Formats: sequence, structure tokens, C-alpha cells
Amino acid sequence: MKRYIVRTDREIGLIHPFLHAHFAEHVGAGIYGGLWVGEDSPVPNLNGYRRAAIDYLRELGIPLLRWPGGCFADDYHWRDGIGPVARRPSRANASWGGIETNHFGTHEFIGLCRALGAEPYIAGNVGSGTPQELRDWVEYCNYPGGSTLADERAANGAPEPFHVRYWGVGNENWGCGGAMTPEQYADLFRRFAVYLRSFGGSEPVLIACGPNRNDTTWSKGVMDRFGTRAHPHALAMHYYAEGTGSSLQYTPEAASQQLASFPLIEQAIIQQHDLLNGYDSVMRPQLVLDEWGVHDRLIPSAQEQYGRLWQFTTMRGAVAVGLGLNIFNRQADKLAMCNLAQMVNVRASLLETEGPYGARCMRTPVYYSYALFKAHRLGTALVIEGDQDSSLPISVSASRNADRLVISLVNASCDQDQEVECAVSGARLGPPEAKILHDPDLNAYNSFDDPDHLTPQSHAVNRTGDSLRTDLPRLSVLTIATGIS
Ligand code: AHR
Repeated sequence: MKRYIVRTDREIGLIHPFLHAHFAEHVGAGIYGGLWVGEDSPVPNLNGYRRAAIDYLRELGIPLLRWPGGCFADDYHWRDGIGPVARRPSRANASWGGIETNHFGTHEFIGLCRALGAEPYIAGNVGSGTPQELRDWVEYCNYPGGSTLADERAANGAPEPFHVRYWGVGNENWGCGGAMTPEQYADLFRRFAVYLRSFGGSEPVLIACGPNRNDTTWSKGVMDRFGTRAHPHALAMHYYAEGTGSSLQYTPEAASQQLASFPLIEQAIIQQHDLLNGYDSVMRPQLVLDEWGVHDRLIPSAQEQYGRLWQFTTMRGAVAVGLGLNIFNRQADKLAMCNLAQMVNVRASLLETEGPYGARCMRTPVYYSYALFKAHRLGTALVIEGDQDSSLPISVSASRNADRLVISLVNASCDQDQEVECAVSGARLGPPEAKILHDPDLNAYNSFDDPDHLTPQSHAVNRTGDSLRTDLPRLSVLTIATGIS
């Protein structure tokens, strides 16, 4: 039996909805054939956006969406993607192969964000772009009217500014974004930042390239060089749970090795946050987990069929995402944003379509992990005492939202069921309700023949006085909600 004490009187911090944010890149069938099918497509669509995707994503709630990359961002020139579609140039997609038609550009991205109710976050091109190109993009998006760029936006159908607040200044500039040293990047960042102004709206939030995983040399290197004149508002770390198996053939050993990344991700968040805390508060950026998710070994034939970076999304992926979302709750006071890579058809995603431009679209187990954590959004994360909360295979987090208490538990073990008791201190409990996503097969997945194979089910929880007891079967993600007074 695992025993925890949920302290309703000890708060960690607000669980900002941006901790449940997402990322969509021009790779594989992420945008083209996934989210975007075009207005003339036989696939049911809403002004070109795949209707089923919009419906599912709206139901889940997408607080913020990062675009257009990824590696793609540092080779993307925004002017290619505006104006009449027929006149937009076709370019080779140097990062991911194939032709970039530019049919999905800035206006289409903003339209998608509006359809989803998501805050837009644009990653700008530093690797192969110029400060002028990026400052012009900010002006094009945000200047109310009267400048040539704002008037061009209006002529392209958008008289009102897009109000894009979040701007990435490059992506992985230590790698695909220009293979720079921390000093080279920080110097470039300073140059770019000087020209990225409010342009009539609110000050842009500048998100600088942060470390790969827990690379403190990068973080310290850039922080020491930014200086006070042009420093970022946030530093973006990328951390993936790397795996060696192909998605449908994981062994328990390979799964444990992959899931063992999560305690390291939590450690990285704590250490990177500590590092930033060592700098003057005037220039201290917030910490963003800009890209995270599950990387499996890619199978060339599946890439051919479904698009680049495509992998099956399984129960293991849902458990991994549950582990991540528990960490974000526990470290809610240290994180400003966490973007899952990626939203549709790329890596362990929320939605999958029946191949690029395929008619059918379904929710993956990862979608349902997010759905199980949705009740934490805007709650206050609570301290949990007891069996060490960041150790695997059991992971736990809790939050309170007015008179509701929400507890999420994940059992990442492939072979051990668990009994769990959560004693709640500082509040009286109402009757609990719980939903669980579970399959004893770590390679279980939803298919187009059986799209509801893995969906959350009701789960029994016993309440005795101030304690909640339940069983937590192997490979499960569970959320318990109860009224408190
Ligand atoms: O998500 C795919 C790629 O992974 C992104 O383009 C890059 O930023 C990361 O390495």
C-alpha cells in the first residue's frame, strides 16, 4: 500500500493552463493532411481546417499553440505564407523533406488558434533569418493599422491586429537552429530583441532558446551574456523521453528505460529554475518546457505511409504524459508553459488521422491523459507528503480549485498493481468520483476499427473519514475529484 497525505493547507502555486499547451510543426502530417485539409477537400472541414480535429481539440481545450516549428522555424520565411494562396511559393522543406506549399501560413495559423480558443505562440527564424524579417513579422501581426505592413495584413483579409504576444526567438539554436555556441546565440538574441517591440499592442513576450535537456552549460552561457538591455522573458528548455523500441513492440524493460526519463525531467526543471534564480530578478526569465514528449524508434515504412515523425500512440504514451502532467503540477511554481510535441500525427500526439488527408480522425490515449488532467487547470497545486512523490513507478499530484479537490495518480509499472491511500489534511471530503485510463498491455492503442478501445472509465474509490483508498492497476492514469469543505 502506498500512502500519501494531501495537504490542502500547503500550496505550491497556480496551475496555469499553459502547462497544458501544445505544438504543431510543418512536419509529416502534422499540419498538411492533419489539421489542415483545405477548403476543397472531401474531408469534412471548417474553412480548410479538419472539422473533427477542431471539434476534439475544442472539447479538450488548447490553451496555447506553438507554431511553425521546431527545426522548421529557423528555415521559414513568413512572407512565403501570406497573400493569395495561388501566388505563394513552393519551397523544399529542408528540415523534414517534401514540398512546403505555404498554403498554411500566418493567417491560417491565427484562424486555427481562434477556432480552438488558443493563445498563439510564434517561433521566429533566427538561424537563417534576420532581425528585420522577424521585427516585420511582429509588426505585420500586431500593428493596428496605418503602416504598410499593417495595411498589407488588412488587404490580406485581417484589418484587426492578431495580438500575438508570445514570440520564440529561434529554436534549438544549439542544433538545427544554427549550431551556435551559447555566446553566439546570446549575442544574436540581443540584436534581435532590440527590434522586437510592442508595435502598438502589448510588449511581446520573448522566449529565448534554452537548454537541451538539463544542459546547464548552455543556460549559464546564455544568461551570463544576455545582459540587462535585451534579455528574454522566458528561457525554453526541450526535454524528450527517448526510447529505443518501435511504438507497438515495447518490452517492459524498454518501457521502464524510457519512463525513467521523467524523474530526470523533474530534476532538470528544479535545477534549471534554481540556476535562473541565481540571476538578478530584473533580468530573470521564466522557465518554459518548450517541447516535451515521447520519442520512439521511427519505422521507415510507417513514415512513408503516415508522414515524417509518425509513431503509434499507445497506453505507454498515455502513462508517459500522465507522468509529465503530474510533474508540471508539482513544479507549477517553476514553470510558465509546457508544450507537448506534437498535437496531431507527429510523435505521441493527441489526435491521429487515417494517414495524411485520410477521412477519419480519432483521439489517442494521450488525448485522454490530458482530458483526465483538465480539472487541475487554474487550480492551486498542493503539497503531498508521504512516499516520495517523484519516484517511479507511482506518481501523484493534487490541486484545489475553490471547493473541489483533484488528485491524479499514475502507475507506470508494467507488472505491479498497487493499492493507494490518500489522507487529506485540512479539509472535509465529499463523495469522490474517479476516472481511469488503463490497459495492462503497454502496447495497446486506439485504431480506426476500435477508436474507443482506450477511453477513461469510472473507477471505484472508497472514502473513510478524511481518507481516499483505491486500487491503481499497472499502466494506469487516474483522476479523483471530490468536493471539500
Ligand atoms: O518535434 C520535432 C523536432 O524535435 C523539432 O522540430 C525540434 O525542435 C526537436 O528536436
